[in-house]
Amino acid sequence: MPVSIGASENTFTNPIGLLSDCHRRIERFIKTLLTVATQAGGSSLDAEHRRALEVALKYFREAAPKHTADEDEDLFPMLRQLANPRVSTVLGYVDRLEAEHKTAETWHREVEEICQCWLSRGRLSDDESARLRMVLTLLSDLYRDHIALEVERVFPAARSELSAAELGNLGRHMASRREFRTRRRSARSTVRAIDRRSRLETHHAVQLRAKAPRQYRNQPIVLLPVTCGLLENSAG
Ligand SMILES: [Fe+2]
Ligand SMILES: [Fe+2]
Repeated sequence: MPVSIGASENTFTNPIGLLSDCHRRIERFIKTLLTVATQAGGSSLDAEHRRALEVALKYFREAAPKHTADEDEDLFPMLRQLANPRVSTVLGYVDRLEAEHKTAETWHREVEEICQCWLSRGRLSDDESARLRMVLTLLSDLYRDHIALEVERVFPAARSELSAAELGNLGRHMASRREFRTRRRSARSTVRAIDRRSRLETHHAVQLRAKAPRQYRNQPIVLLPVTCGLLENSAG
């Protein structure tokens, strides 16, 4: 079960597109956790399952909270500040989305706790294993509806109602959030650096496809974490 993080398709100059890219990672890593929990069933982890579990847990521990912060601390307050009747319906959805972030956080804490027991002890009891699968299923269901609401209702409103300057600020805040702990530099230079990295990755993917044996050329390319934020855990 290869673990794919993939390359971002958008940059910080398109912050709403970048938030959608983050959704793909959330979906992928929840699926990874659910697959490991189902296939291994709480029994001894082989090397591949262990690695997949560690990578997915790290993503939800370190990177996904940045995506939540992008929305809770930047995007949602920007929409509220508009005081615009065209976004009044959307603001109702925003309240629900914020509550779901808190619910997801609680469930992720439980998943982290059970999985760390699994990694350290080597196996889970039947009850722990069943509970893990249940919480992951709840999370998977929550994210499916949550992401649909954001993509279908909230993001289109943000695109149409936020000004170019506001979207620029959102992108700069998102870039700073990912870079702040690794290297101090201006938000503008962070955006440039990450955009440059993203272009390099796209170039790299094209080269990989060209060099692959013919029968693999139409297969999706799995890129190990590079864009994911100058550091693999900083993407969100
Ligand atoms: Fe969200
Ligand atoms: Fe989101």
